[in-house]
Amino acid sequence: MPCSGCHGADRTGRTEGGITAPDITAGSLGASARTRPAYDRATLSRAITEGVDPGGRPLDPAMPRYQLSAADLEALLDFLTRDAVDPAIDDSVVRIELAADLEPDRRAVELALAEINGADGIHGRRLELGSPGLIHLSLRQEPGELSCGPARLWLHGAGVSSGGIGLLPDPATIIGALAAHLAPANPKLAVAGGTAGERGLAEQVARTAAAASGSVGLEGRILLWLGGAQELMSFLDAQGTEPAVIVALLDRLGPELMAMPPELLGMLRLASPVLPTDWQRPEAHGFAEYARTGRLPLAPRTAAIYAGVQVMAETLRRSGRALSPDRLCEGMSALGLLDTGALPPLRLAPGRSSALTSLHLVGLDPASRRFIDAVSIPIP
Ligand code: HEC
Repeated sequence: MPCSGCHGADRTGRTEGGITAPDITAGSLGASARTRPAYDRATLSRAITEGVDPGGRPLDPAMPRYQLSAADLEALLDFLTRDAVDPAIDDSVVRIELAADLEPDRRAVELALAEINGADGIHGRRLELGSPGLIHLSLRQEPGELSCGPARLWLHGAGVSSGGIGLLPDPATIIGALAAHLAPANPKLAVAGGTAGERGLAEQVARTAAAASGSVGLEGRILLWLGGAQELMSFLDAQGTEPAVIVALLDRLGPELMAMPPELLGMLRLASPVLPTDWQRPEAHGFAEYARTGRLPLAPRTAAIYAGVQVMAETLRRSGRALSPDRLCEGMSALGLLDTGALPPLRLAPGRSSALTSLHLVGLDPASRRFIDAVSIPIP
């Protein structure tokens, strides 16, 4: 019989059949009463397992004596000593709060939640959007946001730290991974586009990985392009020579990509955290299915949001039914390897600069405009 059956879901106590189950809110247990001194964790644990109050008085036999594992008992004590019943959780619902910056992506979050709720939710509870939420989903980490409660999950940012997870690596991490991957086989890697800082970073990584890198001509070389599609076409016009292969960040090229001439399209290798070939598979489900059928945009941002909801659900699943923001914060950073189906496998461990373990590099067939030849590039 759950505690709430006698003490009420709000823990303020109930009288039924002449038996009074008293108020067991944190405030009431923590204060001394007419019949007993105040409870602390040790005496509370004794009351639950042995049925003795802090004054040594045996509790009425109507109060069951519970045999709990050490972990369950700790979780129960956490729950009972918390100030108030968390308004973000009740018996059948866990509420998730959506930050204003994710409002435009509400549909992606709702579809991901629907999938989880369709598979019976988490420990018998549905996940719903609402406020206040036990977990706060946002696009970016706000400064000073590391302290826990509510647990945070943000989609861009510096990997895994206590209290939150950044799912998509920042551009510098992506550029570094690309340069490190390309340089050993292409000592004369050329780098252009993007910001001066980004070019500097890529050149430095390339030099470290391959010893040589310079900026003489493009003929026959690999160009690592860090800017947009329009800009790329102007850049190539101005150079007069053509590289053999252009590696570019899919996200940055923008919609002008498809307007590029076929011979340029054939030269491109596109780096992206989402695998654009995946959504072409008819058996794909989850995010890939939504992307294939046009219900969600096939964008890294949307994929990260979808994956974020899966990470959140997995955290809740592993935390058990007794939830607290602190527990979630601890659990969230130590999930280990997780496949969300929307992003390449995530490695969620404290201190990692990127949760994402790899990037995809794909070609584009100029005739069919389909993505081809995907290879995977590790992110350290
Ligand atoms: C079948 C009904 C019932 C259930 C289920 C139940 N209790 Fe109780 N509980 C009581 C009653 C009745 C008392 C009052 C006993 C007394 O004062 O002698 C009590 C007393 C307590 C007290 C002591 C309060 C005080 O002020 O001294 C605590 C703490 C408590 N319950 C916690 C729990 C917890 C935690 C659970 C679930 C794990 C739970 N109870 C489940 C009926 C119940």
